[in-house]
Amino acid sequence: MGGSCGKGVVYLVGAGPGDPELLTLKALKIIEKADIILYDKLVGDKIIEFLRNKGKRIVYVGKNSSESGGKKQVEINRLMKDYALKGMRVVRLKGGDPFVFGRGSIEAKFLKEEGIEFEVIPGVSSIIGVPTNAGIPLTHPDLSSALLVVTGREGVKRWSKTLVEGTLVILMGRDRIKELSSELMKYGRDPETPVAIVENGTLESERTIFGKLSNIAEILKESDVKGPTVIIVGDIVNLGKELRDREGD
Ligand SMILES: C[S@@+](CC[C@H](N)C(=O)[O-])C[C@H]1O[C@@H](n2cnc3c(N)ncnc32)[C@H](O)[C@@H]1O
Repeated sequence: MGGSCGKGVVYLVGAGPGDPELLTLKALKIIEKADIILYDKLVGDKIIEFLRNKGKRIVYVGKNSSESGGKKQVEINRLMKDYALKGMRVVRLKGGDPFVFGRGSIEAKFLKEEGIEFEVIPGVSSIIGVPTNAGIPLTHPDLSSALLVVTGREGVKRWSKTLVEGTLVILMGRDRIKELSSELMKYGRDPETPVAIVENGTLESERTIFGKLSNIAEILKESDVKGPTVIIVGDIVNLGKELRDREGD
């Protein structure tokens, strides 16, 4: 996947929201085999303590360059590349999930462009983990059937355009994809907007189907999808597609 023989590999690993118990088994296994770990500010202190106790080689690369030891993105990219080219197993440890804010997608794109083998390991995002841990449900049949995740760096004006500009993640939408896609187009979403449908996510039978709003219903029908799905609508789907296209695949 992506790299050539003799090169190392970079794992973009989600560390969860902070509690070490919320590290996944997969993350733990990869961390245990790592030669070096480049970690962010939001990786929990107890996780760092655990890594130190294990005798792991760890380097703080928190993005804010004004912090002591903090590094800029170009520097983080260079470190990942240099260590990988030395044949090392590099873990880039990030708070929450690596693909939710936090520039994991930028790092993945960089690694792909550099021809460095990489793998992305999901983590429990603060989006889900923090409210649930605090006892606050995110949905309830009578109270709320949608969840809008936004960045506070933008304002309400931009948030209000989510339906036509943002990434939409749709659960339980498989059997209504025809109506949903045509309604979205009616509300102003570009018919060319890319759509991905992931069936049986994370299982061996995981399958991802790509299309655009104007044809996804037809593609889904032809693909005979029967399992549970997560549907992703938005331009970001094209980046995902690009990142998935690895050499030799
Ligand atoms: C750059 S984003 C990274 C998000 C991360 N990739 C994730 O999936 O949770 C950082 C923001 O996530 C939120 N966050 C992350 N961990 C948190 C925690 N343990 N408690 C509360 N908020 C948290 C805060 O809003 C913080 O400013």
